[in-house]
Amino acid sequence: MNIDIQSSGGVCVLRLDRSDRKNAITAAMYAALADGLAQAASEPAVRVAVIRGHETAFTAGNDLGDFLNNPPSGEDAPVFRFLRAIAGFPKPLIAAVCGPAVGVGTTLLLHCDLVYAGENATLRLPFVDLGLCPEAASSLLLPAIAGHQRAAEKLLLGEPFGAAEAKELGIVNRVMPVAEVDDFAIAQARKLAAKPLSSLLATKSLMKDGLAAAVRERMVAEGALFGKMLREPAAREAFTAFMEKRAPDFSKTG
Ligand code: COA
Repeated sequence: MNIDIQSSGGVCVLRLDRSDRKNAITAAMYAALADGLAQAASEPAVRVAVIRGHETAFTAGNDLGDFLNNPPSGEDAPVFRFLRAIAGFPKPLIAAVCGPAVGVGTTLLLHCDLVYAGENATLRLPFVDLGLCPEAASSLLLPAIAGHQRAAEKLLLGEPFGAAEAKELGIVNRVMPVAEVDDFAIAQARKLAAKPLSSLLATKSLMKDGLAAAVRERMVAEGALFGKMLREPAAREAFTAFMEKRAPDFSKTG
């Protein structure tokens, strides 16, 4: 399944495990993550969740071959189930990020409560370069976190940026040597897991509730547009070019 889920001491760790593909996420992996988050949300023994990848890659985002051959259709598609699960996760959610965090690898961080990054973390929002639009309510959340101009630079130009810049933008809490990230994230999770769950739940919902309805609405709007754009010539050219290891040619697309 390429998703490993382990719980102990009140902490559920969801680990992306497909390093030969830089942890690119397939529909089956989205489904496993959505189910794992739902289980972690409802299981009383779990108080905190941690999402992590590998020291060399958090995730290269959506699996482009999977998207090309099997584009998500409808709101129950695994990718949209995952996005709703991460946006609505009621308990503290921590991300440990090393290496590339592309597309959803960056946008999912906007839903986490604490984000710890290795010095090798490289974030990127390449939606325009892929003939797509933002997802995971990032068109709402990134301007809210970073301000319009800084969000526009990341979303329109789509250039990679490092952990230090991500911290400056407000996406990352702390940057540290790669070898320390996973242990540090787990240690922070254990600190939280020792606290009263009722207070953790109340504090998170008080912080998130003001924007929650707008986030859900934006995810639906982005999802509809994203699903339509996935099937259009620009995205198909971008995905095919990636598979064929060549530069895309958008001169004949809209
Ligand atoms: N979907 C499918 N396969 C992917 C992938 C993705 N999103 N990202 C990487 N892979 C595959 C590569 O095709 C390559 O396969 P190969 O060994 O058969 O050639 C393998 O994973 C390793 O990737 P590679 O590109 O060689 O690694 P890298 O270290 O040079 O670069 C990335 C890593 C993440 C920067 C680069 O792979 C990348 O830009 N990926 C696409 C990211 C993307 O656009 N995601 C979609 C967001 S919506």
